[in-house]
Amino acid sequence: MSELETFLDIATEAVLSAGSILQSNLGKIESIEEKGYLGDLVTEIDKRSEQEIIKIIRRHFPNHSILAEESGELFSSQGEYLWSVDPLDGTTNYAHGYPMACVSIGLLIEGVPQVGAIYNPFRQELFRAATGTGATLNRQQIKVSKTDNLSQGLLVSGFAYDRRETSDNNYREFCYLSDLTRGVRRSGSAALDLADVACGRLDGYWERGLKSWDIAAGVVILREAGGTVTAYDQSPLVIESGRLLATNGLIHAQLSQSLAEAKNIDIFR
Ligand code: IPD
Ligand code: CA
Ligand code: CA
Repeated sequence: MSELETFLDIATEAVLSAGSILQSNLGKIESIEEKGYLGDLVTEIDKRSEQEIIKIIRRHFPNHSILAEESGELFSSQGEYLWSVDPLDGTTNYAHGYPMACVSIGLLIEGVPQVGAIYNPFRQELFRAATGTGATLNRQQIKVSKTDNLSQGLLVSGFAYDRRETSDNNYREFCYLSDLTRGVRRSGSAALDLADVACGRLDGYWERGLKSWDIAAGVVILREAGGTVTAYDQSPLVIESGRLLATNGLIHAQLSQSLAEAKNIDIFR
């Protein structure tokens, strides 16, 4: 087994274990806090899930660094390995008992996402990939869709928690692309959005205001499924920018161009 596959197995162990915490507590939340922006929630289950994941990663790789949404940076000596952990992606859904959420764990090696595992315990769907191994859903190989015309595409997007405080809030893009395609969904889980493009249920995804832990795993899974992930303008993805365009590859240029055009539309026509 290669080193990357060993890392992938530990990521898998961690998402499955944390996922069972999410599953058994859905609808039973007692404590919800708001972190900063209106609607940016954290529950006791985000924290329990994160502790479980950190425990598993630390047990296997005590020298690796961890960036976890609720705990921040836990740095270690072997700086080239960074686990990027979202213990509960889709917290708003989860806090309302709406079962659209997952656990997402990516491993960046020297800043490049190389391993990803995403688990949706409510559908019992496990997405996995490591660079060079292909991507799987419940251990079956997955591929992106073959849709090559944006007008026949079904897309997904989302809105960051700072949306009320910036005009760069994705509203124009969302409206414009809703007109140009079969539809734009908003699931509330960036990791599941990337996974759904990877397995061909959706054709493309874009969003801004994201964090490394939202996308590190999904980027690997989508690329290994044959998809393309870049910045909006098709330049190389910079994870820290929080902005990404992710598609089946075939509609990538069309979606990139439409996002640029959207800046000038009137959404109240
Ligand atoms: C959020 C979800 C959502 C996206 C937000 C993220 P959280 O993560 O991925 O889909 O639109 O930007 O912050 O808070 O549920 O972990
Ligand atoms: Ca998230
Ligand atoms: Ca989260």
